[in-house]
Amino acid sequence: MNKAVAGLESARIVDDDRAHVWHHMIQHKPLENADPLVIVEGKGLRVKDINGREYLDAVSGGVWTVNVGYGRESIADAVREQLVKMCYFANTAGSVPGAMFAEKLTEKMPGLSRVYYSNSGSEANEKGYKLVRQLAALKNGGKKHKILYRDRDYHGTTITALSSGGQLQRKDQYGPFTPGFVEVPHCLAYRAPNGDDPDYGVQAAREIEKVILREGPDTVGSLILEPVTAGGGVITPPEGYFETVQEICRKYGVLLHIDEVVCGMGRTGKWFGYQHYGVEPDIVTMAKGVASGYAAISVTVTTEELFGEFLADVSDTMHYFRDISTFGGCTAGPAAALENMRIIEQENLLDNVDEMGEYLMGLLHELKDKHPMVGDVRGKGLFVGAELVQDRVTKEPVDEAVAAAVVTHCLRESAVMIGRTTRSFPRYNNTLCLSPALVCSRGDLDEIVGAIDRALTAQAA
Ligand SMILES: Cc1ncc(COP(=O)(O)O)c(C=O)c1O
Repeated sequence: MNKAVAGLESARIVDDDRAHVWHHMIQHKPLENADPLVIVEGKGLRVKDINGREYLDAVSGGVWTVNVGYGRESIADAVREQLVKMCYFANTAGSVPGAMFAEKLTEKMPGLSRVYYSNSGSEANEKGYKLVRQLAALKNGGKKHKILYRDRDYHGTTITALSSGGQLQRKDQYGPFTPGFVEVPHCLAYRAPNGDDPDYGVQAAREIEKVILREGPDTVGSLILEPVTAGGGVITPPEGYFETVQEICRKYGVLLHIDEVVCGMGRTGKWFGYQHYGVEPDIVTMAKGVASGYAAISVTVTTEELFGEFLADVSDTMHYFRDISTFGGCTAGPAAALENMRIIEQENLLDNVDEMGEYLMGLLHELKDKHPMVGDVRGKGLFVGAELVQDRVTKEPVDEAVAAAVVTHCLRESAVMIGRTTRSFPRYNNTLCLSPALVCSRGDLDEIVGAIDRALTAQAA
């Protein structure tokens, strides 16, 4: 264990944490009688807590972030070197890593060419919304301002990002919301009455068209979608879905905004999730894995055509994108992101995701054969989920407490950290989530699925 947090010192840190830190997403009452989890070091997929207990992290930092794994000295070195040379200047000016990362990133995104820097997924999405709103003001008298989002998707935590969120329990108690956001139905085949229909993907996309027609195509500016829905239950799009979505967007002049905050940077086996589905988006946003959590960075990437709309009239002093993100000028982000991409390429991690993703899916299917509680397994690459049900025929979901107990069993009994959908939807917080680092091995995956197997056995007992 780290000497700096040995003995008395560690007890003090735990006390300080308990007394002063307001943690994300947790009820604090239980911490009055229990120690908070304090993580102090990590290497590869393993992390250690302040008491020296080691865990296998199957969720890349809890929320699908540390794609290249912990303890990467080359990223730390790249950041250090950049910071001592030039730490920050507002992004009204350029920076060396900013220019280099933008070039390297767009090389992997044919059809997209402009990179706007900010520092969280929510913020990157808000930039996308602001582009749509301003474009509507510039070209359509403000009319084409509506933004469609999908039931079950999540696009961030700010009030406007929540306004575009399809997860009821995330939104509950935080309204009123920003106007002009309209929901379209989800595409989860497992929970659709006609999900077995081979044409379901096309039908689910046509539901979006119905909403566009109902709202009036001249009022709809964009549609935001996760390529694979993450916190909403790891929902992979059904066959034909994205092709039809693309066709509909083109037909009605609706910009397609793809939220790659989770799927981006190799998680699904391609650089970006949308690249599995032959989609040509107008706006792509990403955060989390962009620098694997070694620095805070997010980006909003657009086509040159969209960028060009903001160049049109130089005589109009308001006719440019008048947005700023102070920390979008931090150079640590693009410096870390460049090295992160270099690692993914040099270590052939996209191939590892394909191979390990297939292996993991095989293990999960075996788990499904063994445990009736596993109703469905789905995912893409190293981004997978298992939906737990009380009854395979009715698909009645397990109580949220059951899914929580499985996660806790994995943590306490096997020292394996897995995730689950939490406080997203009434009744449907029943999906276990796995997103190990892209460097994982078969042995890691055996250990992860073995822990879930034991936890499900304990639940059934
Ligand atoms: C798909 C998706 N978009 C956006 C966000 C928001 O990102 P951030 O928490 O960095 O604001 C998240 C966060 O989990 C996400 O899963």
